[in-house]
Amino acid sequence: MTAAQKPLQRLVVIGLGLIGGSFAKGIRELGLFREVVGFDLDARSQALAVELGVVDRCADTLEQACQGADVIQIAVPILALERVLEHLAEMDLGQAVLTDVGSAKGNVVRCAARAFGTMPPWFVPGHPIAGSEQSGVTAANSALFRRHKVILTPNAQTDPQALALVEHLWRALGADVESMEVKHHDEVLAATSHLPHLLAFGLVDSLARHHENQDIFRYAAGGFRDFTRIAGSDPIMWHDIFLANRDAVLNILDVFTADIERLRDALVAEDGHHLLGVFTRARVAREHFSKILARRAYVDVMNSNNVIFLAQCGGALTGHLRVPGDKSISHRSIMLGSLADGVTEVEGFLEGEDALATIQAFRDMGVVIEGPQQGRVTVHGVGLHGLKPPPGPLYLGNSGTSMRLLSGLLAAQPFDSVLTGDPSLSKRPMNRVAKPLREMGAVIETGPEGRPPLNIKGGQRLTAMHYEMPMASAQVKSCLLLAGLYAKGTTSVTEPAPTRDHTERMLRGFGYPVTVEGRTARLEAGHSLKATKIEVPADISSAAFFLVAASIAEGSDLVLEHVGVNPTRTGVIDILKLMGANIELLNPREVGGEPVADIRVRSAALKGIDIPEDLVPLAIDEFPVLFIAAACASGRTVLRGAEELRVKESDRIQVMADGLHTLGVKATPTPDGIVIEGGAIGGGEVFSHGDHRIAMSFSVAALRAIAPIRIHDCANVATSFPNFLELAQKAGMHVNKESAS
Ligand code: S3P
Repeated sequence: MTAAQKPLQRLVVIGLGLIGGSFAKGIRELGLFREVVGFDLDARSQALAVELGVVDRCADTLEQACQGADVIQIAVPILALERVLEHLAEMDLGQAVLTDVGSAKGNVVRCAARAFGTMPPWFVPGHPIAGSEQSGVTAANSALFRRHKVILTPNAQTDPQALALVEHLWRALGADVESMEVKHHDEVLAATSHLPHLLAFGLVDSLARHHENQDIFRYAAGGFRDFTRIAGSDPIMWHDIFLANRDAVLNILDVFTADIERLRDALVAEDGHHLLGVFTRARVAREHFSKILARRAYVDVMNSNNVIFLAQCGGALTGHLRVPGDKSISHRSIMLGSLADGVTEVEGFLEGEDALATIQAFRDMGVVIEGPQQGRVTVHGVGLHGLKPPPGPLYLGNSGTSMRLLSGLLAAQPFDSVLTGDPSLSKRPMNRVAKPLREMGAVIETGPEGRPPLNIKGGQRLTAMHYEMPMASAQVKSCLLLAGLYAKGTTSVTEPAPTRDHTERMLRGFGYPVTVEGRTARLEAGHSLKATKIEVPADISSAAFFLVAASIAEGSDLVLEHVGVNPTRTGVIDILKLMGANIELLNPREVGGEPVADIRVRSAALKGIDIPEDLVPLAIDEFPVLFIAAACASGRTVLRGAEELRVKESDRIQVMADGLHTLGVKATPTPDGIVIEGGAIGGGEVFSHGDHRIAMSFSVAALRAIAPIRIHDCANVATSFPNFLELAQKAGMHVNKESAS
């Protein structure tokens, strides 16, 4: 019988405070038990609980309350729990399942083992991470646990049915239930909740005692108030919690004390670099926690992950736009800036999640990086040999470029490292870098089938080599050139077709000699990088959405400003021109070693073409939106030699073909490309599979669709083009984020 089917007679809640009262009230409202019985030593709370409809009735004694119970929820203060458990151990509890809400689980388990002789299999310890400024049964709120985490800490002996039943009750209250080991739970809570309370109580008391004239409080501003708000919490409850979770709190307190000592030393020594390092890291860590983790912890997972774009049909694009900075150049500015001697100033940096993942990785390796703020980043380079071991795995989100380029760099460091990523990155092939790096002497383990995570063993002496790349990949080329900075001798890489050359150009910008002859790039270890200024041009890959949009939408005339037009990236312009697009490059100039221009694009009647294979690597990221151009063109467009598209953030051939098919466009995938027949575009629901460029491409398709297009799974647009919707609307497209229902 499953937990949900079990006929439930009686829930008993012992302790009718905020948490116990809210649990009782919520379950009672759901009608999951025939009866909800309360018990509290405080007669007033008992009377109020009945009056407020929190429970059906209260019992006079614990024995009477627990008779015939299916579930007993213990919600008493943590140090009162032992007495309650001793009392319960003397009774015949029949088939009852026991659970609790204490915030330190090691203590609960020890008390239960003492009271019952061993931890009973029908006792499922639990901890809802929810609360309120108010307390007592009058604050009971049946929605208190909705979208909050509840952590259960079962052990190997816990009865699966008892566990399922407790899980079922919390889920019914709208909570997000997780299981954890007792020790881990107590460590996590010691760090995230208990230590901050200790510091808040301690700071207020310290200031109050040492500043007797109390001026310090009279002039206390927001900072003091924010930091010490939690010192207003219930002292008795916190006294209990600290004694109950003593060991875990002591451990984290020791770690923190050592870090505070280090900050003190830095102040004594006027070591501004250390201070800046701590503050910049803390600031981003906090943003990361509040934006990313808190969203996942407290918001309905389905809603937050499935960002839906609703693109209304029609529209024309006009005016001037500047799309965000180039992703490839932004990554490299942080990598080379970190390895340089001196301070590198970056402008126009892409503040998208991929490039931010690279910043975070280098911060984790001890590099002080200020910003980004309005595209400005200041990188305090540590030199080629100055990186420090990261405290844990480097998490690179969705960013293949970060993982592949970093693997080359990290293979040559004296420390070990682990590179991980999100579910999409975790499916992408890494043998293309792991294999040649191993030939240079690197020790790298991949996950199954050459996928992430990458485990890189430090302390290896790399030897330079010549590598003939089997595929046209700028990431592989760049990875090997970065490894070559540390490999004895001359490293050279030959590519089968030209790919983006930002690494070669930027290395030279940092004063590092690189030679390029035909398709071979070559460098030798032993030189150094000198800090420089970098101006990142607007990303042609982001501009591409508007190049196609303005081409297909009648009445459009748009200027895209300051776009990087490096010849290894302009395949999209060449292909669109072959299709009949009206595109002009205005005011061509060179900025920091990269060609830049303003691009004017006006609507034009496009025609289908056979895309020349030599243009494929030069437009590799722009194909999803070029497929939309092909769907709007007259006749057939054929793409060949583009099998790389199958291993991008998604299988871009299949995912685009599926979406186009939904919209009524004839698109036939082939192993290395696609055949698209231009024609009418319908509306419908399409899926981007978390691929940013696919989400944006279907937004563009709506300009020529006869009904709206709903695009699922668009959150990753933030990886490369965080203000896409804003700019698209400004230019004249009718695409919006659908508000979560
Ligand atoms: C990139 C290279 C390309 C490209 C990616 C960025 C780079 O990948 O698709 O978006 O910055 O080096 P490949 O090297 O896999 O072609």
